[in-house]
Amino acid sequence: MTGELDTRTRGRTARGRLRALDAYLGQFESALLTREDGPWARAVFVDVGFGEHPWTTLESAAAFRTLNPGLSIVGVELEAERALAAARDHADARTHFREGGFALPLSAEEPARLVRAMNLLRQGPLERIPEAHRAMSRHLLPGGLLVEGSTDLDGAVGVAHLLRRRPDTETPAREGLLFHTDFSRGFAPLMLRDWLPRDLRRRVRPGEPMHTFFGAWEAAWKAAREAGHTAPPEAFAESALRLARMTPGVATDAWLLTRGFLRWSPPGGTPA
Ligand SMILES: C[S@@+](CC[C@H](N)C(=O)[O-])C[C@H]1O[C@@H](n2cnc3c(N)ncnc32)[C@H](O)[C@@H]1O
Repeated sequence: MTGELDTRTRGRTARGRLRALDAYLGQFESALLTREDGPWARAVFVDVGFGEHPWTTLESAAAFRTLNPGLSIVGVELEAERALAAARDHADARTHFREGGFALPLSAEEPARLVRAMNLLRQGPLERIPEAHRAMSRHLLPGGLLVEGSTDLDGAVGVAHLLRRRPDTETPAREGLLFHTDFSRGFAPLMLRDWLPRDLRRRVRPGEPMHTFFGAWEAAWKAAREAGHTAPPEAFAESALRLARMTPGVATDAWLLTRGFLRWSPPGGTPA
């Protein structure tokens, strides 16, 4: 189940690192997490590359099972010893740990509803990213979601791709980007640039859509501060509202803005 696409990486992880993402998914993807019609009754949540310890997988399982108590989860690891140790210590009838790579070690009886791949595409060749996205989407049911991105070690700052499986093609739709900060490091838009998913990190250059986006967010943030919104949470929320007036696809949902999330779903899809 591993192949040319997969590159060995270190396994650093931390408890709570992906908790904000769990909260986002519980809030905005509850229908996806709870669907039970047809093949969805068997559809699993897959956490790809859980690391040295399966902490984030188990935390997500607990969070998602508050919505769907019967949800099956599959933690996948390129490193066989990590997969074996997790299976030995934590597997049960609905919780599985398997060795595997982006091709995902799932049976035909296990379609996926949600695939998460956080903090593992930070190295490796850039050209392989579209194929890695396609490979991880292949097992998703149409409408299923692939979340791929990066955070710092304690999950204080991060950005993830939201990639949606389409019915007609294995190439997932680049539906949007989810930016998050918990404000523990203050806030300025450019602090999120370093956590962009790998395929976008070098794209914040003049003439590129990501550069235009960050330029507009930076201007909105400066204007918000000049208008008196200086505390990081307020500056963030106000900057998002101002950005939304200039940039199509910026969500202004209060749940997001009060929790340090900015979701940008450009009408033509996330820049490729
Ligand atoms: C830095 S850890 C991240 C752990 C966890 N996802 C987190 O966000 O804290 C990356 C893990 O992904 C694994 N990994 C890297 N490439 C992989 C691949 N193609 N398939 C499955 N696991 C992979 C590595 O072995 C490593 O244990």
